[in-house]
Amino acid sequence: MMARIGILTGGGDCPGLNPVIRGIVLTAHSFGHEVLGILNGYQGMLTGENRPLKIADVQEIIYQGGTIVGTSRTNLAKEKNGIERAKETFKKLGLDALICIGGEDTLGVAFKLYKSGLPVVGVPKTIDNDLPGTEFCFGFDTAVNIATEAIDRLRTTAKSHSRVMVVEVMGRHAGWIAAFAGIASSADAVLTPEYPMTIDDLSALLQKKRAEGKNYALVVVSEGTPLEGLDLGEGFAEVRKEKDAFGHVQLGGVGETITKALKEKTGFDCRNTILGHIQRGGSPTSMDRILGSAYGVEAMKLVQEKNFGKMPALQNGTIVPESLEEASKGIKIVPESTFSLVRTLFES
Ligand code: F6P
Repeated sequence: MMARIGILTGGGDCPGLNPVIRGIVLTAHSFGHEVLGILNGYQGMLTGENRPLKIADVQEIIYQGGTIVGTSRTNLAKEKNGIERAKETFKKLGLDALICIGGEDTLGVAFKLYKSGLPVVGVPKTIDNDLPGTEFCFGFDTAVNIATEAIDRLRTTAKSHSRVMVVEVMGRHAGWIAAFAGIASSADAVLTPEYPMTIDDLSALLQKKRAEGKNYALVVVSEGTPLEGLDLGEGFAEVRKEKDAFGHVQLGGVGETITKALKEKTGFDCRNTILGHIQRGGSPTSMDRILGSAYGVEAMKLVQEKNFGKMPALQNGTIVPESLEEASKGIKIVPESTFSLVRTLFES
C-alpha cells in the first residue's frame, strides 16, 4: 500500500545529509511511496511547511553539501505543547511515518516522538562523530579531510616563519576530528575534551621538540577542550556564553586562549586559526556520500518493515538497526586505545 513518508534534518548541517535524503527518496519511490520534506527541522513539524520530494528533486544532490530541506535547532520539547503540535502536523499532512536525520538532540526528540506514539525512524548524523550506537557518522570523514588539508597548508607557513600554529577544530564533547586530523597531518600535539593538556606540559613538549631541532609546531585543539584543565590562571575566559535551544553554549575561542598562553610561556611566535564552519561546508567526500546513501536506504527499509524507534547504525563494519534510545545515551568519546596512537606519534 502506498504510504506518505515525512523526512526532516535537525541540528547543525553536515556534509552527507543530501546523500541520505537521496537514498530515502529513491528507496521510498521504489516501494511506491511518496516523500514530503519537512522544512527546517522540527520547526517544520510546528508550521507544517513542506515540499514534496520526487526522484527528479534528488537526482543532482549527491555531491552537494548542506541539506535541501533546511535545518534548525528547534527543540520540540522546549516549545509549548511541542510534541502534541508535532503530532497534529503529522496527522494534518497525512503522514504514515517520519524519518528524523540528526545528532543527539534531534534523535533525542525523535525518541520522544516515538514514545508518544508516532512511527519514527532516525538517522545518526554529526561531524563530531560522538553519537553512541554507531561507529561512524557521515560528515565526519569530510570534516577530517578539510581539517587535514588546512593543517597541511599551515605547516608550510609555520616552517617558513618558525612558528607555532594552533588550529581549533570542531568537537564539542569529544575529540574525534582533532585526533584523526592530528594523526593524518602529523601534528605535534592534540588537545581534546577527553584528553586535555596543561599549558605547562604543552609548552614543555614544544620546547623539547624545538631543542631537538624542529623549528615549528602544529597544535590541534578541539573547540570543547576544557580550559579548567589548562592552568591558564585569571584573565582567560571562554569568549562566548550564548546558548542554543538545547542548552549548548556556542563554542569557539579556546584555540586563541591557548595561543596567547603558549606565547607567554614559551616566547615562541604563535598564531591561531579557527576552522569553524568551514568543516561543515562544501561537498561530502566519497566515503560520506556512500555512508549517507547507505543510511538513507536502510532507514527507508526500517520504515517499510515498520521497525520503528530505530536508526541504521554502523557496527563492526555492517549497517544494523539500533534503538533510538541508544543514541541519547551519553557521548561516544575517543577511546584510550585510539588516543594512545596519537600520543605515540606526537610525543616521539
Ligand atoms: O554539533 C556539531 C557542531 O558542528 C559542533 O561541533 C559545534 O560546536 C556546533 O555544531 C556549532 O553549531 P552552530 O552551527 O549552531 O554554530
